Amino acid sequence: MSRRLHPAVVAAQPFQLTARKTFDGPIFETEEGKRRLEMALSRYPTKQAALLPMLGFVQAEKGWIEPDDMVQVAEALDLTPAYVHSIATFYTMYNKHPVGRHLVQVCTNISCHLNRGEEVLHRFLVETGTREGEVSEDGEFTVIEAECLGACGFATVVQVNDRYLEDVTPDRVSEIVANLRGARDGATTSGADGGGDA
Ligand code: FES
Repeated sequence: MSRRLHPAVVAAQPFQLTARKTFDGPIFETEEGKRRLEMALSRYPTKQAALLPMLGFVQAEKGWIEPDDMVQVAEALDLTPAYVHSIATFYTMYNKHPVGRHLVQVCTNISCHLNRGEEVLHRFLVETGTREGEVSEDGEFTVIEAECLGACGFATVVQVNDRYLEDVTPDRVSEIVANLRGARDGATTSGADGGGDA
């Protein structure tokens, strides 16, 4: 089956199956933490401007951002914890709760709604054995409903971590979940979309 890559997600694909880690000790005292902080500070005119990249770094490493992480980011950037908290909670792309290795976001907005988006969402919940927002028992999945993902011409659209799956129908869900389950950290994502087009 032919595979189309959506231009908006090509650059994000290498991060699709990033292993979820925890930090051993303070984030910015780790080698990677120091390196990422230094890199961000060299790119922006002020420390405050590096806030979103640093929150993104924490999430990419851990899968979510907890209150203590926000405090550490605030200290590293000379900001108040309250300010960092206000930014982290403003953007829905930052997870404030633990999520499974695969965060599945199913769009049910108008185009996707008209293309059985609710059924797709329901199938994902059934196949992963979860309720919305829960982490599955094996830690692999969290399924949530999403507002318009900006790819309305390819309804129903499902975002799995940083990757878009397009034209998803309820009968494709079982294969998508099986392929995601089988994909290992660091593996390519080839076939992880059930032979689809993302
Ligand atoms: Fe689903 Fe826009 S309505 S992507």
